[in-house]
This record gives sequence, C-alpha cells and structure tokens, in this order.
Amino acid sequence: MKRREFLLGSGAAAGVAGLGGLSMAATGSAEELVLQPASYRLRDQLTTGMVSLSPDAPPQVLYGKQGQRMRLTVRNTLPDYTAMHWHGLRIANEMDGVPYLTQMPIGEGESFAYEFTPPDAGTYWYHPHCMTMDQMAHGLTGVMVIAEPENPGFDSEQVINLRDFRLDEEGAFLPAYTARGAARSGTFGNIQTANWLTKAVYDHAAGSLVRLRVVNTDTTRIYKLHLEGAEARIIAWDGHPVEVDLALPTADAPLWMGPGQRVDLAVRMPDGEGQSAALMAKFPGQKPRAMARLRATGQSESRTLEELHPLPANPVQRPNLDQAKLHEFVFGWTPEGGAPNDGFCGSLGYSFWSINRTPWPGDAAQGTGPLAVLKQGKSYVLRMRNESPNLHPIHLHGLAFVPLKSNLRKLPPLMTDTFLLLKDEVVEIALVADNPGDWAFHCHVIEHQKTGLAGFIRVV
Ligand code: C2O
Ligand code: CU
Ligand code: CU
Repeated sequence: MKRREFLLGSGAAAGVAGLGGLSMAATGSAEELVLQPASYRLRDQLTTGMVSLSPDAPPQVLYGKQGQRMRLTVRNTLPDYTAMHWHGLRIANEMDGVPYLTQMPIGEGESFAYEFTPPDAGTYWYHPHCMTMDQMAHGLTGVMVIAEPENPGFDSEQVINLRDFRLDEEGAFLPAYTARGAARSGTFGNIQTANWLTKAVYDHAAGSLVRLRVVNTDTTRIYKLHLEGAEARIIAWDGHPVEVDLALPTADAPLWMGPGQRVDLAVRMPDGEGQSAALMAKFPGQKPRAMARLRATGQSESRTLEELHPLPANPVQRPNLDQAKLHEFVFGWTPEGGAPNDGFCGSLGYSFWSINRTPWPGDAAQGTGPLAVLKQGKSYVLRMRNESPNLHPIHLHGLAFVPLKSNLRKLPPLMTDTFLLLKDEVVEIALVADNPGDWAFHCHVIEHQKTGLAGFIRVV
C-alpha cells in the first residue's frame, strides 16, 4: 500500500504544503518540534531508545494563549511514521493529527506545520496518533498549557505529567503491550513518574498561590490521586473551569484520573520554609506515595485562596436537551477481528475490542464509515454503554461534551473531552456538534484503542 493513496476522512488538507502560504500574526507563537531518539535516567541507569523532542529531556511543556494563533512544525527524524494530536483542543479538523482520517502520516525527514488558534484556555496535552503505542510508551507525551488572556491571580504554576514506564532491572524497555493486557485492563508500567522523575520536588514561595496542572498521559493507568499538606481547590477539569463545588479528594476517596484526563488545582503553599505539599498516588497493594512535592521557600507570602478570581468559562456552547437527538454506542468485546490495516502507523496484531460490535480495523481502515453523522450546530445526546468488566476512558476529538447521567452514580456536570466509563456503566453525555469534520472517538487505553476500541464521528 502506498501512503498517499487515499485519505479516509473528508476534506483533509494536503499536509506539508497545504498551509505554506500562511504566515504567523505578530502575536502568534511558532515552534519546531523535532521527534528524535532520547536517553534519560529513569531509574539508576540510563534508559536509551526513548522518543522525545530533545536528546536528553522530556517533551517540553508547550505554551499558548487562548485566542492566539500557534504554529507548531513537527519534524520527524525517526525511521517510523508519526502524526501529532493536540488532545482536547477544539481546532480545525485538518490540524487534529489523526493519520488517514485528517492527514497522511509524517515520514522520516518530513515535516508537518500545525497551525491553529486554541478557542479554550486550560490544560491540554499532545501525543502522536500514528505509531501511538510505540512512541507514547517510549516517552512522547507532553503537556500543553493554554493561558487565559489574564492571570487569575496565581504566583506561579507547576505542571505535572504523570506516566509509567515499563523497564527491566537494567533500565531497558520491556515490551509496551501484551496480548493479555490488551484484552483486559491494559499492560501497566512498573516505574511511575512525574515529569519523568520518580522523586520530583519543586520549589515555590511559602504561602503563595500555585496553579497545579496535573495530566495523566499514561497509556494505561488510571491514577488515583489526592493532595496532602496544603489547602487547595479543584478549579478545572479536563481543561475547562469547574462551575460546581467539588470535594477535595482524600486518601480514602482519591480522584480517579483516566489516561488523557487533567485536573487543575489551586494550591496554597504552606507557610513554613521547607514544608511541602505532596501530590499522592495510590497503587494497588501499596500505601499512597508522593508523585511530586511542592516545597515552600522563603518567607510566607500570606496569600489566601479567596484572592483568586474565578476562571472565565470557555466559549463552549451548551446543548439544548429538548431538541437533542440520541445516538447509542456500545463498548465491548469484539465478536471477531479482521486483519488489522494500520498502514504505516503500527498494529498490535490483535482485535479484541469494538464499538457497536465492530472492531476498528486499523488506522488505515478503508470503507469504514462514521459511527454517527451529526449535523453542525445541532445538539446531541450520546449514550455510552460499557459491556465489559474493564474501565474505558472514552475520548472524543474536536468537541467538548458534558455528562448528564449514569446508571451507577451521580455525575457533576464537568465539561470534558474524555470520560472514564466504569464497569457496566451506562452514561449519557450531551454536546453541540459545532466543529465540522471527522472526529476520532476511542478509548484512551492505547492497547484498547489499537485493538479495536476506536472509530470516528462525522460532523457535517
Ligand atoms: Cu489523546 Cu485520539 O487522543
Ligand atoms: Cu484527542
Ligand atoms: Cu478501553
């Protein structure tokens, strides 16, 4: 098969040359992201064979501003193909980075210029959507911060990128996936890191207000988190400001964050120099342990959480439920799996999962239609049923949605792009189909995504 033979999606741009004529507005930002091999001391020894954007560091935090144009040129120096996706950003479909659906994979020595204007402020992230398993497992997952036009009153920020690595005793990579894991809850890493560090400590002024942005970029793990040693408030969830009061998670009732999800906390640093606040995570069979510490320095700034301005709401349209049409989606085991057709974007070689009883046949799938066709500007309710005993963080590209109800629990109306569906759960979500294009819709446990639990929704 030739890479440029076809595009499954409608209306995709021509890639490299497609936007050649555009130049950045004076206010915009431009950056080149060079995919390359990297090494890093994840354990005691140096781990080689990593994938990052520099030879010896994690993928950097990318900063943008709400409503300001960004140009991110992805240059691929790896022998494998790639494509970059900007998770949670409601941008034009042809900039969404999904191979064969919105663009052709980017080959060795090739570049693709992504240009977009983020409509929403908040905490987002980026990762490849071609060779997804391989490149993500080896390190290529980064955080993207889109700032509000005005600082809501923080003294500083701290980004925490949570993720596992699967390494042997010598610090070499173990296989990122297993058939056993892919068919169940995924294959878990054995080294848990924050910003690639196993003992991350960051200094912030005592008594100051820190915006803590926590992102789960792991391929598999649902992180169970709480904060210790500081006053704090949850201010945003999956990028969007929280408009209801949420209880602060505790050791006994931690926050469950599926792969792809984000939470922003307003943290008031302790007053005493050297005291610290800790982001704690609970792992099976272990006591909670600190993934990252914020250490107080200097004399107390004596700030209070009440001094913060509420985050301005993002310009997401609210669905009109009286008019909303219902679409149903069943996530489950696959009855049978055809031969995967992944083109140049990697296959795990199995089919285990399905949406509406059809396993997604692979990134380069041909003749596979959308799971649903939505009319632009109309409101919809999507009913998502999990028919499996495993949890699935279900992610929709390009659109934001709000959960309405569940058969198992009360759901706060938190705007999101990724919803963690529990075992046997049926959840209804609502959205306005306000962004035209073909939008990937899949589980963010990458082994599930790559073995069938994927598809796309078309907005026309
Ligand atoms: Cu974060 Cu389709 O991905
Ligand atoms: Cu996404
Ligand atoms: Cu899943």
